Amino acid sequence: STKIILDCDPGHDDALAMMLALANPEIDLLAVTTSAGNQTPEKTLHNAMRLLTLMHHQEIPVAGGNRTPLLKPLETAGNVHGKSGLDGAELPEPDFAVQPLTAIELIAQTLRASADPITLVVTGPMTNIALFLRVYPELKAKITQIVFMGGAMGLGNWTPSVEFNIYVDPEAAKIVLNAGIPLVMAPLNVTHKAQIMKPEIEVIGHINNPVAHAFTGLLNFFELYHENPKWGFQGAPLHDPCTIAWLIHPEWFQTEKMAVDVETTGELTRGETVCDYYELTGKPKNTEVLLNLNREAFIQLIADSLKTF
Ligand code: BDR
Ligand code: CA
Repeated sequence: STKIILDCDPGHDDALAMMLALANPEIDLLAVTTSAGNQTPEKTLHNAMRLLTLMHHQEIPVAGGNRTPLLKPLETAGNVHGKSGLDGAELPEPDFAVQPLTAIELIAQTLRASADPITLVVTGPMTNIALFLRVYPELKAKITQIVFMGGAMGLGNWTPSVEFNIYVDPEAAKIVLNAGIPLVMAPLNVTHKAQIMKPEIEVIGHINNPVAHAFTGLLNFFELYHENPKWGFQGAPLHDPCTIAWLIHPEWFQTEKMAVDVETTGELTRGETVCDYYELTGKPKNTEVLLNLNREAFIQLIADSLKTF
């Protein structure tokens, strides 16, 4: 199975990514670290612990990450994820302790303790990963790849050309994308195709266990934000679980390798991921970019995974 560390900012779709990682034996979730993003760092840490409590995986070590992005003040997404960051469901309070470590210390400890290299899965802003690479460069060799949800090729969901995770901490993303580590990117181009439709949420609502029940509430809340006709969606885009789904079933995805970098100084475009689709720069193709997926299979994986709890 693929050993991973999940760095996330739960977040409804982060919660789904965590759920997929826990439900599927192809993935071995070694540690969870949290970033400031969808909500404040206190709330995203608390949410990660509530989710692990809900899913009965209190044995997984959790540590909280940096309080702010590297340079920008923190901007959160309460409009999407609610006041708690996980509105829409009643979640249990954590019944285990957070690690007495920072996120980057837990990542370092986990990498050191593992004989095999580990995949980093990042579903929030990249602040922790950038700091980690700056503080522990000698551990880079133990990272197989970084699979992240973030950015877009020619789209935006926070500003016209900028996706939220990269928007929150563009400098961190620049450090991570230029680190020389193999990258797999789930941009809006694929996650906007990974929509769950209302009738599919209804089917999940009939799965009879507390985890599926909580996720039905989360999905219904998340779906409401996306009903705004400006998006042209028929359902809700499930961004973050695309990362784990790709690790389990890469054959469900169409991908393209290309050079990707981050704009950090643009007047209108700070935080834009610049994707060299036509190989115009001749720069090394540092990123495998997910562009399309088998939506039905992806949604089925989510439903089947929820049935395992
Ligand atoms: C990303 O932003 C967050 O709101 C989601 O959790 C996802 O990681 C989508 O742009
Ligand atoms: Ca997220």
